[in-house]
Order: sequence, then structure tokens, then C-alpha cells
Amino acid sequence: MRIDIISVLPEMFGPVLDTSILGRAQASGVIEIAVHDLRDWTDDRHRTTDDYPFGGGPGMVMKPEPVYRALDAVTALSDAEPFVVLTSPQGRRLDQALVRELAARPRLLILCGRYEGFDERILARADLEVSIGDYVLTGGELPALVLTDAVSRLQPGALGCSDSATDESFSEGLLEYPQYTRPAIFRGMEVPPVLVSGDHARIAAWRRRESLRRTAERRPDLLVGAALSPEESEFVNGVVQKENADRD
Ligand code: ADE
Repeated sequence: MRIDIISVLPEMFGPVLDTSILGRAQASGVIEIAVHDLRDWTDDRHRTTDDYPFGGGPGMVMKPEPVYRALDAVTALSDAEPFVVLTSPQGRRLDQALVRELAARPRLLILCGRYEGFDERILARADLEVSIGDYVLTGGELPALVLTDAVSRLQPGALGCSDSATDESFSEGLLEYPQYTRPAIFRGMEVPPVLVSGDHARIAAWRRRESLRRTAERRPDLLVGAALSPEESEFVNGVVQKENADRD
């Protein structure tokens, strides 16, 4: 997969993209990431990318001309047609289902928003606006990094162990079960005995139940579409009722 990122702050990306799993995924060719400076497509001495809003009001607006030129030039860098994503607090909220959708595309082009927003005509060039949550950041660089990280780790070969991306929170619409490592007793806190029993069927059953319990306690909204057996439904209903009773 190829990801192109266009930003006025390209220097924000190097340390994150070149470290750990993302760095290795690039070095091994699993993913190709290129960061581009929007100012390279300005045509004035000050390399201006924003301007005052028509109609007045506070803040600055991202100008369309450099963005259109950048999108044309960056698109032409590779044969695959990019799926163009704009980062914006007004976009579709990112979740693991959207991450999977985007990870399946051969090429993404992420345009990072800045200032108070985009000139509306820029939206005509986007396939999707994406928000990483209902809060406002100073710009789209951190959202672009979040999106790039989440999408990259799903590429085949990006993670060391092929299981790591399947047995985790949200992969089956549930939160992950509790995990423990050595020592078996730490400051008086013991690992659940089933996990050191060596009985793999019992361990799997315990993990499924704890995953259901945790999801019912913390994120009951996730259970709405979950595929549960009748016994599992009964169990989560009990947990949810207890949670509600404890809250009242
Ligand atoms: N730009 C500013 N805040 C943002 C958010 N929450 N998601 C995406 N882009 C943003």
C-alpha cells in the first residue's frame, strides 16, 4: 500500500513514521509512505497557503490553488489512483471498521487540514473527510498520523506475529480480554489460575467470557451488533444490569 500525506508541517511526521513498526514496515516494503510540503505548490514569495475568509470572521482558510496543484502533482507520482482523505473534525468518525475499509485500498492520499478549515471547493476533490474524534486539534497532522498508523499495522506482514491483528480489541466487535505476564504473583496480585493451568480450551473460554464482561461493563454500545450465543447474551445482560444498578 502507498500513503501520500500533504501538510504544511511535514517535519512533524519523520520521527513517528520512521520508528518501530511503521519504520520497519517501510524498510521492508510492506508500506510506502511519502510526506509532501504543501508550500512546494505555492506561487508567492511568502509561500502562502491560507487567506482571510470571504464575509469576514475570525481565523484563516486554506486556499484552494496550492491544494489542487499539490493533489494533481502527488497523484501523478504513482500509477494507482489515490483515495483522497481530508482530516477534519466534521468528517466521518474513525473506528476500526473504517480503518479496515481504508487499509484495503491500494493507495491513500491524506490532506491535512490547518487553520479554521478548507475553502469549501477543496472538498470537491476529496473522497472522504475523516475525524479522529469529537474534539478539536490545532491541525490535521496528528489525525493523519493516527490514520496512517492504524491502516499500516493491518497491512499483511506489518506486525511480527500474524495473530496480533486478529485477536485484539474491536477485531470481533468486542474489547480484548485481560492479559498477564510474569511474575505470576506481583505485589500480592495473582494471575488468574486458569491462565497457568495449561488447559487451552478452558483458557479460551475464560478469555471469551472476560472479553464479554469487559465490553458489557465499559462499552455496552459495542454489543448491539455482536454475534452472541443465547448463554452469552444472558451473561452480558446480567453484567449490564449490574452495571446500571451500581450506577443508580
Ligand atoms: N482537525 C482538527 N481536529 C480534528 C479531528 N478531531 N479529527 C480530524 N481532523 C481534525
